Formats: sequence, C-alpha cells, structure tokens
Amino acid sequence: MAEVTWGLTTSHVPSIGAAMDRERTEDPYWKPLFDGYRPAREWMAEHTPDVIILIYNDHANAIPLAMVPTFAVGTAAGFHVADEGWGTRPVPDVIGHPALAAHLVESLVDDEFDITVAHQLEVDHGLTVPLSVYCPAPGDAWPAPVIPIVVNVIQYPQPTAARCYALGKALGRAIRSYPEDLKVAVFGTGGMSHQLAGERAGLINEEFDRMFLAKIQDDPQSLADLSREEYVREAGSEGIEMIMWLIMRGAMDDEITRIAETYHVPASNTAAALALFENRA
Ligand code: DHB
Ligand code: FE
Repeated sequence: MAEVTWGLTTSHVPSIGAAMDRERTEDPYWKPLFDGYRPAREWMAEHTPDVIILIYNDHANAIPLAMVPTFAVGTAAGFHVADEGWGTRPVPDVIGHPALAAHLVESLVDDEFDITVAHQLEVDHGLTVPLSVYCPAPGDAWPAPVIPIVVNVIQYPQPTAARCYALGKALGRAIRSYPEDLKVAVFGTGGMSHQLAGERAGLINEEFDRMFLAKIQDDPQSLADLSREEYVREAGSEGIEMIMWLIMRGAMDDEITRIAETYHVPASNTAAALALFENRA
C-alpha cells in the first residue's frame, strides 16, 4: 500500500528560484532565507520519497485565463518547464507517475471531486520553485517523480478553503488505496501573505501568517472554516494561495510531527515560509 510519509509547505516566490539559478543565495539579501531552509533540506535529503504529489497554482503561464480548471491532476509521463517570458529556468524537466496519477483521478472522481485531467502540462514557478526549495542541486533529474495537482487560486471564484481541506482528505484516501508500496511526499505550496497589485500592493500580515503556520498542524479545521474573502482580506489577493496548504494537510494524519519551520520577510514582495511535517504522532 502507498502511504504519505511526510509533507512540506513552502512559498514559491519566483525570485527564490532566480537567486538559486544565479548563485546569489549567499548575498546579504538572500542568505537569511536560505539559511532558514537548511534543517529541512538536510532532513528531506535523508528521506527521499518514491513519489512527490505537488499541489500548486499556475500563474496564467501554462493554463490560459480563457479556461481555468478549479482542480486538475497531471497524468503525463513528463512535464516541461514553462518559459515565463525570460527563458526557461535551468532546472530539469519533471518526470511524472502516470499510473499513480490515473489512480488518483479515478479515486477522486469516485469520491465526488470532478477533477480535470491534464495529459499535457508545462509547469511554472509555482511548481519548480518548491522543487528547488526541496532539492537545491538536482543535477540532471529531480530525486523523485512528481504528480502535479493544479488549483485555481488566481481567478474568482477560487475553491473554498473547506473544499481544499476536503480534497486533501480524499487525496489521502486515494493514496492509501494504491496497491503498490510507495512512500509519498505531499507538497502544499504558495503563500504566505502577499499582494502584488492594486491599492494594497506590498501587504504583509505577519500575525495572520504566524497563526496559520501554527494552526496548519494542530487546528487545520479552523483554517478551513475561513472564507475566501477572509483569506484575501487578511493575507492579500495572492496570499489566498495558502489554501493549497490545506490540501496537503488533509492528506496527512490528524496528528503529525513538525520537523522544521522557517518564516522570513521579505522575499521579493512576499512573506516566505517553509514547514516540514512527518506523518506520525
Ligand atoms: C511573487 C510572488 C508570487 O506568489 C508569485 O506567483 C509571483 C511573484 C513576488 O512576491 O514577487
Ligand atoms: Fe504565486
């Protein structure tokens, strides 16, 4: 049987990837952020999963605004890195896991989540930056195959936080019903508080972020109970990306162990955080 062994939540700020690609991680601006990643990275390097399920959002790079699925699962054998306008990042393309992905789609649809199936998908910074946070020097290939789960957090109406948490629980059931013995890591990405445009551009809400970082472990239901309007009001129009963390949380057990955490402001215009959890009480 497949099992969820650990879960990672992390911001996906594009300039975190650019800092790594340009070898700027020791610059005074970036060093504190990357120093904060070190304990989590060391632990993850010793716990390589068989498959990563990575929950993220596309930013109108691969999925045009003409047709935006609420939830999509990537079932392809591989996913090219998207060119977001200044060339593709110098990181490996992503290898998929079509057999597990097809099982996830079937199980989720049977569980009444009407999933869009992505047989072809390019992956933008929402997916590649979390992979770089996990594994800074992948060489020719990432350490494990990746199944992308894409969530609409950029166009109203985004799914509710409660729906994301429920999807996570269904995802956990889907993983545990896969017959092959696979160790699965689940990544919930995006956030934390940030707003990139409009009157409130630059918004950071450390109090809300710290509350969210604490409750994602011990009281995720209270985070699932917040409306999308509360997420946008408290965390900014892009801070609502945090609802994707609840999908990861739902896939894990009720009791989990926090291995590492870091919170840093600013990374670009964004409050950046990482939290790493092992799936055991
Ligand atoms: C930034 C943050 C994001 O989440 C994103 O998708 C793009 C840019 C930023 O802070 O620069
Ligand atoms: Fe984003």
